[in-house]
Amino acid sequence: MMYSMIYLCNLQEKFTQVDILILMTAAVCHDLDHPGYNNTYQINARTELAVRYNDISPLENHHCAVAFQIFSQSDCNIFANFDPEAFKQIRQGTINLILATDMARHGEILDSFKQKVDYFDFTNEEHVTCLKMVLIKCCDISNEVRPMEVAEPWVDCLLEEYFMQSDREKAEGLPIAPFMDREKVTKPTAQIGFIKFVLIPMFETVMKLFPQIEEVMVQPLRESRDRYEELKQIDDAMNEVTINVFFCFAF
Ligand SMILES: *[C@@H]1O[C@H](CO)[C@@H](O)[C@H](O)[C@H]1NC(C)=O
Ligand SMILES: [Zn+2]
Repeated sequence: MMYSMIYLCNLQEKFTQVDILILMTAAVCHDLDHPGYNNTYQINARTELAVRYNDISPLENHHCAVAFQIFSQSDCNIFANFDPEAFKQIRQGTINLILATDMARHGEILDSFKQKVDYFDFTNEEHVTCLKMVLIKCCDISNEVRPMEVAEPWVDCLLEEYFMQSDREKAEGLPIAPFMDREKVTKPTAQIGFIKFVLIPMFETVMKLFPQIEEVMVQPLRESRDRYEELKQIDDAMNEVTINVFFCFAF
């Protein structure tokens, strides 16, 4: 997805080669060694990761640390030919992007980008850094941009991950979120709100700068939203039938 965005938005003409390297490296590494239980769980359960990182984006700090542990092995050091100054810049840029994928920072990062997008300046380092953060965020949660046949199996995986976490939270007496509860959530209910209130607003903001993503990315998101809304109506109608049948037998 990151490659596609770079290609589609012609970023190789607007960004330096080092920026492209940072974007691709961060995208590949951003979820390394993910345990499948989110930051809230880590913090509430006081896991080793939460203790190590003092509850500050424990997962993203870990993904990034694992990446640079790998690069520090001489047979994996893809940056071996850069001088120390360039390596510093690549390392700092990559850390910044991986840490930006913590969804707890979603509002803050998107707001900061919204303030810049109408007078965006590719020669302004702060603007470029903010755009790179939004780009990796778009890629991170881009599943619903892909064709239904590709995206839907991953939604099943996502829900499975949520259910594993909420089951464990129940077992350990920790707080759980309704949207992760296997008794409450369905595929459509899980996706509709996320597409409407997280994905579409973010991609539409990026669209102001790169209108070409409307057809390729925003339109598929709108179609996915509409499809899940139809599926939800079918689910709701089915539940009504079940309730009526229940009452027929109950009385
Ligand atoms: C992480 O899990 C908690 C439940 O423990 C939930 O409230 C929270 O919204 C989840 N965070 C994300 C980003 O999904
Ligand atoms: Zn991710």
